[in-house]
Amino acid sequence: MKTKLNKIAQDTNNFLKKFINKQNNSKLLPAMNYGLFPGGKKIRSKILMDIGSLLAIEYKTLIAIGAAVECIHAYSLIHDDLPCMDNDKIRRGKPSAHIKFGESTAVLAGNSLLTMAFEILASPTLKVSDKIKIKLIKKLSECSGHLGIAGGQYLDLSYEKKKISKNKIIEMEIKKTGKLFSFCCAAPAIIKKKNNKEIKFFENIGSDIGLLFQIADDLIDFKGSSKIAGKKTGKDQKKGKATLISLLGYINAIKYCDRIILKTNKNIKKYGINAKYIKETLNYILHREK
Ligand code: IPE
Ligand code: IPE
Ligand code: MG
Ligand code: MG
Ligand code: MG
Repeated sequence: MKTKLNKIAQDTNNFLKKFINKQNNSKLLPAMNYGLFPGGKKIRSKILMDIGSLLAIEYKTLIAIGAAVECIHAYSLIHDDLPCMDNDKIRRGKPSAHIKFGESTAVLAGNSLLTMAFEILASPTLKVSDKIKIKLIKKLSECSGHLGIAGGQYLDLSYEKKKISKNKIIEMEIKKTGKLFSFCCAAPAIIKKKNNKEIKFFENIGSDIGLLFQIADDLIDFKGSSKIAGKKTGKDQKKGKATLISLLGYINAIKYCDRIILKTNKNIKKYGINAKYIKETLNYILHREK
């Protein structure tokens, strides 16, 4: 699993470097590069690969789409760490972007990464029809905006230090994290020109995987080591973040994750032998230490 992730990370980074090198230089690029490289786990690209393999999508196409997703993800982390949000000073074992470059540069580099995702999807390097590109761009914008990441981040912050119901916590986690995974699962189906019902099926799988990913991130914050995670742990409790762990406790949160994994594996079984890739990724997501 680690080797596969490293290969995907390397190919995605190479794609992004090439893409950026073709553009003119700017003063924001150092901060953008800092948010993108060496980068994180590239788990969202792995999910793209896993679902892509169920639908026999070309590797190169998936790498380009994964690069766009990673731009959105990098932007969301730069903004998530800002003083007006989670106010975190360490990310991926290094000073957060706003510590290194200052707040305004971090905000603008984040904005530029967000828009770069759509430049990638619209560019000729992504070899799918224009009609499919528009569908991908529409889906990715929906997943990033007020009904996705941004809206979920709003809820995350407004729920601090409040008693929030289980359903509301789940809705918030699906928006802030799940929606980008939904896009990763829907993109291969969009490329294969599947009908809306099947696209929705994959989107739902994605939001479950994203929810699992966020709960596992919350578990790392609760019990993990800062050194291994590359970011401060134990901060959710201090900030009074509403999580399933704060509501249901550590053991029940893990049980909840186990149920998501069982459900997802069951749903995906009909796609045959390649379903094993999703299975390995889900286990990795729950048991990872960073
Ligand atoms: C962290 O995401 C933020 C969440 C959505 C929980 P990742 O754990 O994927 O971050 P990197 O890219 O690997 O650092
Ligand atoms: C971040 O969630 C979700 C995003 C959409 C960026 P967290 O705030 O829990 O992520 P970390 O723990 O800071 O990486
Ligand atoms: Mg946050
Ligand atoms: Mg945070
Ligand atoms: Mg966290």
